[in-house]
Amino acid sequence: MENYRLVLPENLNQFGFLFGGYLLKWIDEVAWMAASLEHPDCLFVTVGMKEVSFHRSVREGSILQFVIDKVDTGTTSVTYLVRVNCKEEEVFSTEVTFVRVNEAGKKLSLPKS
Ligand SMILES: CC(C)(COP(=O)(O)OP(=O)(O)OC[C@H]1O[C@@H](n2cnc3c(N)ncnc32)[C@H](O)[C@@H]1OP(=O)(O)O)[C@@H](O)C(=O)NCCC(=O)NCCS
Repeated sequence: MENYRLVLPENLNQFGFLFGGYLLKWIDEVAWMAASLEHPDCLFVTVGMKEVSFHRSVREGSILQFVIDKVDTGTTSVTYLVRVNCKEEEVFSTEVTFVRVNEAGKKLSLPKS
């Protein structure tokens, strides 16, 4: 799955570059959408993000490309690799894991495929 995001003035830090917290939020969101589209009957919560390491700064007006690929399916969890590119250069990548839960927030096994 692919997604895009425009970096707006409200996404910048005091030095004029993208604030890392927004990028983490967008990564969580796009990976959650990939998991939820793939398992439409499941409710997912984020349980972990593997590595948080920002490779390059990003300026206002940049168009970020998010490339999301599934890398693992467990008993209750699914993991997606999210790569973020700006002008064809990778600025960030990490793996995000989600756990299927019920309405009370207790983990549930994934449906058999
Ligand atoms: C998600 C939650 C229900 C899991 O319950 P738990 O009893 O801790 O579950 P477990 O330790 O058995 O782990 C469940 C699965 O997640 C995986 N997992 C747990 N922690 C992980 C981590 N840090 N990174 C990657 N995977 C992880 C386990 O390997 C397991 O996978 P599997 O069932 O596919 O083999 C519980 O941790 C929780 O409620 N967390 C808060 C979730 C949340 O609110 N997220 C929003 C951000 S605040």
